[in-house]
Amino acid sequence: MTHIATTEHITLSSFLAGAAREERVPAGLIALIDAVADACSSIATAVERGAFDGASGNAHSENVHGEAQKKLDVVSNDIMIGAVGSVRCLRGLASEELDSVQVTGHEHSGGAAEYLLLFDPLDGSSNLEINGVVGSIFSVLATPASGAVVDERHFLQPGVKQVCAGYAIYGATTMFVLTTGHGVDGFTFDSESASFVLTHPQLQIPEDTREFAINMSNERYWEEPVRRYVRECVAGESGPRQTNFNMRWIASMVAEVHRILMRGGVFLYPRDNKHPQLAGRLRLTYEANPMSFIVEQAGGMSTTGQIPIMEVQPEHVHQRVPVILGSKLEVERLLRYHDEAAAA
Ligand code: AHG
Ligand code: MN
Ligand code: MN
Repeated sequence: MTHIATTEHITLSSFLAGAAREERVPAGLIALIDAVADACSSIATAVERGAFDGASGNAHSENVHGEAQKKLDVVSNDIMIGAVGSVRCLRGLASEELDSVQVTGHEHSGGAAEYLLLFDPLDGSSNLEINGVVGSIFSVLATPASGAVVDERHFLQPGVKQVCAGYAIYGATTMFVLTTGHGVDGFTFDSESASFVLTHPQLQIPEDTREFAINMSNERYWEEPVRRYVRECVAGESGPRQTNFNMRWIASMVAEVHRILMRGGVFLYPRDNKHPQLAGRLRLTYEANPMSFIVEQAGGMSTTGQIPIMEVQPEHVHQRVPVILGSKLEVERLLRYHDEAAAA
């Protein structure tokens, strides 16, 4: 029998109960986080069992972004919706795999805080057929007007308004990483007890790094500040940075952010002119905002190149945004390069 080495055996449920006792997290939000975590452990099983359950391969349908859906994108979306459906304080949800927002049928809960859930049910799903790392990302907003009929406008809040965000990573182990605005805590799924156990309390991103992540095949489409930054990293010891850099690209934002939380680094999916009508590749409300909240709560930084991602006012739930995030000193350098290019 194997045991995860933890100083104390703190499950996600006991961690959340403690947060409620100390009045750091409202009880309704805890029920929602518990339901999302349950969904994530079910998605982990669905990913693991895809080949046996007829859930591998394409669904032969497209999502609102015109991307081919995998069967597991659809299955994961259904699992998440099913898991949170009975949470009383949840008033609505938005997903990468739903064309428009869904209002949940619950009656107004009479004064208690109420929430909206935004999520990417399966991130990095191009990694599925290669048995690579995938994940789920979620963000929670409070409903602005308690009792009001919820519609898409209520979801259009900047990331600074998030009350909670997190992700699950389905890798060699399944982990659940969470912030409620009091730092970032990581939980590892223990299949023996079928629970998430606190293994990575109060994660901190080193402010300095020599590792960057970007899809280099898009280089010809990038704007000059990003070209300059990557050119200088690649030049290594003999270039202006006078040090060698390493590069990683997993094509799963969850995996890139997780690596950055574990050992630092900078991740870029910048604005480019490959699809000039889009602001970038990644989606603001259910990818960039939750990851920015986590990164900033762990001492890192997150920007579009112009402004903090979490200050972008969303115009619709599926909008895209340029993303630069990770170790503080490198993100500050990238911001400086953007400022210098704008001033030139
Ligand atoms: P999704 O699988 O939810 O569509 O998201 C994939 C995203 C992100 O996780 C990753 O960083 C990026 O797309 C990879 O894009 P490229 O294929 O252009 O590298
Ligand atoms: Mn995604
Ligand atoms: Mn996805």
